[in-house]
Amino acid sequence: MSETNRVWRLRRRPVGDITDDVLSFDEEAIPEPGDGQFLFRLNYLSLDPTNRAWMNEGATYLPAIPIGDPMRGLVCGTVMASRHPEIAEGDLVSGIGQWAAYQLGDLASVSKLPDTGPIPVIDAFGVSLVGPTAYFGLLDVGQPKAGETVVVSAAAGATGSIVGQIAKIHGCRAVGIAGTDEKCRWITDELGFDAAINYKTEEIVPSLARHCPDGIDIYFDNVGGQILDAALGLINLNARIVFCGCISAYNATEPVPGPYNYINILMKRARLQGFIVLDYMPRYPEALAALGRWMGEGKIKHRLEVVDGLEQAGATVRRLFTGDHKGKLMIRVADPA
Ligand SMILES: NC(=O)c1ccc[n+]([C@@H]2O[C@H](COP(=O)([O-])OP(=O)(O)OC[C@H]3O[C@@H](n4cnc5c(N)ncnc54)[C@H](OP(=O)(O)O)[C@@H]3O)[C@@H](O)[C@H]2O)c1
Repeated sequence: MSETNRVWRLRRRPVGDITDDVLSFDEEAIPEPGDGQFLFRLNYLSLDPTNRAWMNEGATYLPAIPIGDPMRGLVCGTVMASRHPEIAEGDLVSGIGQWAAYQLGDLASVSKLPDTGPIPVIDAFGVSLVGPTAYFGLLDVGQPKAGETVVVSAAAGATGSIVGQIAKIHGCRAVGIAGTDEKCRWITDELGFDAAINYKTEEIVPSLARHCPDGIDIYFDNVGGQILDAALGLINLNARIVFCGCISAYNATEPVPGPYNYINILMKRARLQGFIVLDYMPRYPEALAALGRWMGEGKIKHRLEVVDGLEQAGATVRRLFTGDHKGKLMIRVADPA
């Protein structure tokens, strides 16, 4: 193969925001697959808030990325050469890989993407990344009952937008919190949320109280911070707080204070549970089947914000923290043939 590879590598650990010197974009030789491995070309790279956590020194739910290593990411690619008996040239694979145009895979890190039928691969890939998080987080951890009020933050984002729609499918009142009027209109007018709050222009506590007249039964937390505090102030008896993410703290340079309304978890006999979607891997087919069915029935809609060019990844990942994207953020290198 005459082409060279292009690889994003972690050069230093960020302090606060991801700055230009944290990652480098290098030209390298394309690797050769060994026994049991295959070489694939990147089609799509998902950009996720967890990318920032993986850059830190301390382990998260996965080991920290060593300095100098390729940046880790969720990827979808086309196999170019295979030394694995179950994988053939032309197969589509997705899973945990690298921010690299060409990379080696094995069946421990990626799996064959099932035929997506009439759904374009890019949409199937996008929903497969965040749909299970919304599905298991809300249904397994949150355990919603019809008539309950579900509040979700980062509600116009990849995960939050699906959480609210699954809540509606289960007969709940869905209230979303998002950072622009356009996002608020999208989740109410297009996705069917009952109410939306722009946390950047509205007072969060009175707005939440107004839109949750019967209190909050489930708070699906994607952001932590003051929004978590506001939600805790309104929880009902036996409420569930689904701790999915804490994006307001990912770039923090100082210890993050705990929520002021923490005591309400005790007073309301609430349950606050963190979860990591990777733990649900064996049950992904269940989530993907349900999500596919709901999408086919028009009950779940999603949107993707696609940026072309792997060279854009370093700048684009930062948009997750400013909210400057509409829906699942990803890089397109090339659509599959
Ligand atoms: N536990 C798991 O297994 C798991 C799996 C996937 C994702 N997650 C977590 O789920 C959350 C959402 O991830 P996603 O991939 O779906 O991303 P996303 O919601 O598409 O993008 C992140 C959004 O967070 C909002 N945001 C950024 N900084 C914020 C702040 N300081 N305060 C409030 N909102 C802020 C922005 O929207 P606005 O314009 O509305 O501010 C931004 O668009 C993240 O915390 C992520 O780590 C967890």
